[in-house]
Amino acid sequence: MKTQLHFNKSIAWEKTMKEKVFIFDTTLRDGEQSPGASMNPAEKVRLATQLEKLGVDIIEAGFPAASEGDFEAVTQVAKKITNAEVAALARATVNDIDRAWKAVCHAAHPRIHTFLATSDIHMKYKLNMSREEVLESAVNAVKYAKRYTDNIEFSAEDGSRSDPDFLCKVFEAVIDAGAKTVNLPDTVGYAIPSEFGELVKYVMTHTPNIGKAVLSVHCHNDLGLATANTLAAIKAGARQAEVTINGIGERAGNTSLEEVVMTLNTRPTFAPVTTGIQTHQIYSVSRLVSLITGILVQPNKAIVGANAFAHEAGIHQDGVLKNPMTYEIMRPETIGLTATRMVMGKHSGKHALLKHLTTMGYDLSDEELRTVFKKFKALADKKKNVTDEDLEALVTQEVLRTADIYGLVYLQVTSGTTVLPMATVKLRINGVEHVGTGGGNGPIDAAYNAIAKLTGTKSKLMRFTISALTGGTDAQGEVTVRLKEDIMVALGKGADPDIITASALAYINGLNRLEYLRQNPATTTDVL
Ligand code: KIV
Ligand code: ZN
Repeated sequence: MKTQLHFNKSIAWEKTMKEKVFIFDTTLRDGEQSPGASMNPAEKVRLATQLEKLGVDIIEAGFPAASEGDFEAVTQVAKKITNAEVAALARATVNDIDRAWKAVCHAAHPRIHTFLATSDIHMKYKLNMSREEVLESAVNAVKYAKRYTDNIEFSAEDGSRSDPDFLCKVFEAVIDAGAKTVNLPDTVGYAIPSEFGELVKYVMTHTPNIGKAVLSVHCHNDLGLATANTLAAIKAGARQAEVTINGIGERAGNTSLEEVVMTLNTRPTFAPVTTGIQTHQIYSVSRLVSLITGILVQPNKAIVGANAFAHEAGIHQDGVLKNPMTYEIMRPETIGLTATRMVMGKHSGKHALLKHLTTMGYDLSDEELRTVFKKFKALADKKKNVTDEDLEALVTQEVLRTADIYGLVYLQVTSGTTVLPMATVKLRINGVEHVGTGGGNGPIDAAYNAIAKLTGTKSKLMRFTISALTGGTDAQGEVTVRLKEDIMVALGKGADPDIITASALAYINGLNRLEYLRQNPATTTDVL
């Protein structure tokens, strides 16, 4: 007992000695820049609500000057989120900063995040500006943002490839102008951990007023080093990490939130820091991001991949059964992954479903609950045990897709070894029902041809993947498609115990996302 008390005391002591690393989540902004990952405002609000529960300190909701859709999404997220800060991105221009503020001003804790490149290569070829001009524009942008809020972050884009002395000069000037956070991005994922740690130390020691601001880092994963670089930076003194869930983001992605947080938790002596992340929420947020964006998590992805806690080798399984610590450095429960994810069945009532969805983090209106309950009953009739994964897919499909143009009313297919595959599909298009038929070389091809005829889509199917949501032959099939039309790329997802229906739902979801992109063209995201 004495030892235990002593142990608890030493943990408490250690906690008070630890500094906080602010977790700045940019899944809704840089994450959304993953090819095909665009999210509509309702999806962004849903995800932001989960990110707040996860305990992130800052949610970067979008880039309001980029498109009307982004402006609307940032506005809605700002209105919804009460505890976390909400940031809006802006280039260092008056128009961008005005737009950012107009969208984010509704937040309880708004932040303007303005950026300008500081590397010679970006200044010369992209901006066509001299160092003096960049310095002046950065300072002017921060001063201009200050008329709206004191909570200003300045990012030196391509910071890792900038002249360190010029970088420090810019940071010093923008801090004097009022920036409370200065961010050092490894925009092109070029940094190496040892070098990046040294650069952070250099900035800490050569920026005279750095004590008045938080030094942040923002790494991309082009060489697979984003997490390692972020951790090296934290060890060297950075106190804000810019991250995304599942590491999604531009090109090879951004630093993954779960990897940084779980490293700091699992190796507490690595750096004297702590985060406010509720780790048991990690798994469900990871699933939600995958469901909303349609980007699958690779099975061997650290922390949240399907195999991250799966032990295949007999010798490992034996060891884990005797003592999990033989082969497990983290317990799956820590990230909210329990062996017995709660199971619901056809006898579960509406109240039990509501209670369960609430514990899973869903906050549904009465009407949404009615819709989900109806679908849940239909699913429970086909499938004995309805798991959390099934419910997640169901809620995402039924609740987050209410504003869709196309909806599946019914689907009927004939196929087999002796008949030509044929499909009859009824779609609701802008509220009006239409029926069409199609043939193909298989039932999915037939259904897709029928849907393509009804919608008149010109999109091309670039990728089609199918997997089982859970184990067992009654598992729901989960289908992901990637559609391309001109320069637009959209991902679509669908889940159903019938894989033809799941395929049709995924295709229709992808077509709805293409429609959303058509109506909300991103006008300026190509500058990033
Ligand atoms: O990668 C980058 O440099 C960015 C900045 C806008 C912070 O995303
Ligand atoms: Zn970035």
